[in-house]
Amino acid sequence: MPVHIEQLGPGFAGSINGLDLRNPLSEQEIIAVHEGMDKYAVLVFKRQTITDAEQLQFSQQLGTIEHAIGTSLREPKDLRLPSTFADVSNLDKDGKPFESDDRRRLFAIGNRLWHSDSSFKVVPAKYSILHAISVPSKGGNTEFAHMPNAYDELENDIKLEINNYICQHSQMFSRQLVGFTDFTEEERTRFAPVRQCLVRQHPKTCRKSLYLSSHAGLIDGLSVPEARLLLRDLMDHATQKKFVYVHKWSEGDLVIWVNRQTMHRARPFPHDEPRDMRRTTIVGDGPTVEQVAT
Ligand code: OGA
Ligand code: MN
Repeated sequence: MPVHIEQLGPGFAGSINGLDLRNPLSEQEIIAVHEGMDKYAVLVFKRQTITDAEQLQFSQQLGTIEHAIGTSLREPKDLRLPSTFADVSNLDKDGKPFESDDRRRLFAIGNRLWHSDSSFKVVPAKYSILHAISVPSKGGNTEFAHMPNAYDELENDIKLEINNYICQHSQMFSRQLVGFTDFTEEERTRFAPVRQCLVRQHPKTCRKSLYLSSHAGLIDGLSVPEARLLLRDLMDHATQKKFVYVHKWSEGDLVIWVNRQTMHRARPFPHDEPRDMRRTTIVGDGPTVEQVAT
């Protein structure tokens, strides 16, 4: 069956059919996925009955896997999944939901702020591939905002002002926004800020987009209050309803998004219900600004 993509929501998301993710894809099929990602930015594979190994195999065909090491507050001995997966669930090693005041949970729910994955790394994420193993009885949607559309609708003088801005991103900046500030010395070192362009241009479509994320907390050359106010204005602009697609999860859904072109956020759900979400991540093409990797 040929690959077929049907548009969803406001036009930058699509439901993709015609691929069997349980088996290796052909070269043509891999090209079709990349082309679909360039065109849509978010692609949904509905109700996939695939194993973790099959998700990983599919992901590896799209690029190099980013390993989830040192990016959460789970200790290596607490990990439920291998480092080829980012554990986006609310579950501990034994598959039990974290207590509501568990520090690991309070850090992890920072993903309810709009963000782009791994914008706090020198080489940020290209694609994220999220598979829903179990979903709560209510809530827990994921929302996506399209950054090329948001950029296009900025006023010209703002575009001129921000075109060459460089931001600093850290998971500490996003957590500060929700009042989570009790980081240990080790965590402060591990979460040291990295620099990212505020405006990026897509190498194939050549469209410019806002590269925003709640991890951004400073802008080189601006005072802290000016930077924070500008980032807040841009965030308000970029997350207007007209730029947003809401994904309501069914068990088995697998969603891929381009982090360069979108922001996303999780929505709340009952904390004592399991929400088992497993993410594979493809590394980006390189740093967005020249800097020494730490
Ligand atoms: C992620 C993420 C949101 C969600 O997987 O990177 O932010 O709804 N997920 O779980
Ligand atoms: Mn995320």
